Amino acid sequence: MARHFLTGAELTRDELLALLDRAIELKRDRLASDALAGKSIGLIFQKPSTRTRLSFEAGVFELGGHPIILRPDEMQMERGESIRDTALVLSRHVQAFGIRTHADVIVEELARYATVPVFNMLTAGHHPCQALADLMTLRETFGALDGLVLTYVGDGNNVARSLAIVGAIAGVEVRVASPEGYALEPVAGARLFEDPVEAVDGAHAVYTDVWVSMGDEATADDRRRALASYRVDDALLDLAAPEVVALHDLPAHAGEEITAEVLYGDRQRIWEQAENRRHAQKALLELLLR
Ligand code: CP
Ligand code: NVA
Repeated sequence: MARHFLTGAELTRDELLALLDRAIELKRDRLASDALAGKSIGLIFQKPSTRTRLSFEAGVFELGGHPIILRPDEMQMERGESIRDTALVLSRHVQAFGIRTHADVIVEELARYATVPVFNMLTAGHHPCQALADLMTLRETFGALDGLVLTYVGDGNNVARSLAIVGAIAGVEVRVASPEGYALEPVAGARLFEDPVEAVDGAHAVYTDVWVSMGDEATADDRRRALASYRVDDALLDLAAPEVVALHDLPAHAGEEITAEVLYGDRQRIWEQAENRRHAQKALLELLLR
């Protein structure tokens, strides 16, 4: 049975902590592993990407493997080839593959029929690879993760859900502050708030993401109105723990969900977080292909 990574819930606590430590090792020496020598990895992008593509393509290369980027307009899926048949054929040519797509059922169905590991590079519901890099960044900053408080401020979306799921496995207290209508459902014990001020009290990390995710463009105006007071700025950070760091998965919209002062300021770990995508995903690929 191939090992998949669709939501992050597949990892045990020990596996997750070992993966984060391995990622920190690989960051110190990016060519330390040739785990993918002689292996090809398929990377299907049905939505735009900067970081995920860069980090997976460079990461597979650094592990000695060959990344094959697949865009929808180049694939027969676009002309109606079934998800099942796509999974069967990919499994005959590559040793694992990832997909960035819309509905979660697409990645679930690929995983059902694939005989090689399938990993989620972002769906409407989840972004678990991002959460791995986020926890790695917290581990680098604070050491132990157990008992840390991470407050996510904004839309209760894929990024918030993955932080809740993967954070809980690591022992991080995840709080999510969102306006009515944009709240995350109760998931993985995350504490839900409406008031960001209340939610950041004692937080070691304050995290935000875009107000308008890919696929949500039709409701952009409503979202900007509803989320206007859910901006991460210096005043909000001042209400968190003294050692607080600001996180954002990017792309950022300075002046919307985060101010430029925070995005480029002293308390952010955002650009490190973007780099850590590659290291964390290399450790994930080692685990899935072990
Ligand atoms: N954070 C993230 O997944 O960025 P991209 O959309 O650029 O891949
Ligand atoms: N929530 C965002 C994350 C982008 C990396 C989206 O799904 O578009």
